[in-house]
Amino acid sequence: MGLFLTFAQLPFVIIFSILTLPFSTRNKNKKSLRRVIGDTTYRFVGQSLSVNEVQGFYGTTLKNYNTWVAQVKLPPVIDELGGGSRLLWLGPKRTERVILWCHGGGLMLALTDHQMAFMRYVQQKLEARGGTGVGVALLEYTLASDQPLPTQLVQLISAVKELLASGVQPQNLVLAGDSAGALLIELLLVHTLHPIPASSEKGYDAPPPSPLTGLPNKLAGIYLMCPWIAVTGTTGSAVANSATDSVTNESQYAMGRFVLGQLPEAEQHYIQANTAPEEWFAGADALVEKVLVTSGDKENLFEDINVFVDKLTKEGFGGSSERVKYIVQKDGVHDDPIQDFFAGETRPGKMSYVTPMIVDWLAERIPA
Ligand SMILES: *[C@@H]1O[C@H](CO)[C@@H](O)[C@H](O)[C@H]1NC(C)=O
Repeated sequence: MGLFLTFAQLPFVIIFSILTLPFSTRNKNKKSLRRVIGDTTYRFVGQSLSVNEVQGFYGTTLKNYNTWVAQVKLPPVIDELGGGSRLLWLGPKRTERVILWCHGGGLMLALTDHQMAFMRYVQQKLEARGGTGVGVALLEYTLASDQPLPTQLVQLISAVKELLASGVQPQNLVLAGDSAGALLIELLLVHTLHPIPASSEKGYDAPPPSPLTGLPNKLAGIYLMCPWIAVTGTTGSAVANSATDSVTNESQYAMGRFVLGQLPEAEQHYIQANTAPEEWFAGADALVEKVLVTSGDKENLFEDINVFVDKLTKEGFGGSSERVKYIVQKDGVHDDPIQDFFAGETRPGKMSYVTPMIVDWLAERIPA
């Protein structure tokens, strides 16, 4: 179907979701009208278009970044990492305390305006607490449809090396991301614990050693928003929440099969943590001071994320819920705090109540 004809349906889909709201489970969310329209549109795009068309819809990371920073009157600040990868700074490059953010989108979609707007919001909330500014660097990685895994891990490794070489201290650095970006952070952690070997089957060399090995201090923290930790998840929540999540279980599944096939079967647990051997995360506590994971109980991935958090906490952090904090947003959908920015819902009290908790956790990890 032509793109025009596809989008011609959108107003009807939106009207339908508003009219059926009183009867849908979404009504319990008490989401604002803006969010209902935003979530419906977001889901519609992912559901109705082919992966190629969605990629066209979301553009390219560098172009989106340049356009967006111009709109919000920030100068573009870019570190070239080589191989089509870059660090894109929101505001000046600051190294006193830094968040490195990996964006989501199934490893198949570019960085978008609403993801940048979310991070800018978080940065401004942190800066409002005084002290020095916060450096926020967004990783531009090559999409998995252009270069297969583990290319994106290799690029993340270059990014962390670049930050450390610029003088960023590990105890002032938080690695973070949403969805597939959170998966990349998890992959780096796992690569540190169990270096990924070369694969003659898939034709790639072993990624470089992890820059997290042998650091003088632990990383300040890792934050994983709705990690895409089970890329083909077909659990109860994937079925039960499939009609109302911000992404359909089928599109998550299709992209999941695609990226999973880029690793040899024997190593697929690197991106499917819940199928990894016992004690997979042992040693994580020596690398990272604290971890925050957030999810929504109305997302497809909910059950998988629960299992993952349990495994990570027990095996990696001696069962400490102090070191691995897990926040479940009641009635939250996938990437709920970021969806507010897609919908343009930034009114205090209407936004996800988890967003201020994320800011609090970050403020505690990298204090002013
Ligand atoms: C998606 O959810 C539907 C139920 O709405 C279910 O029938 C289907 O098997 C699920 N597919 C996947 C891949 O989880």
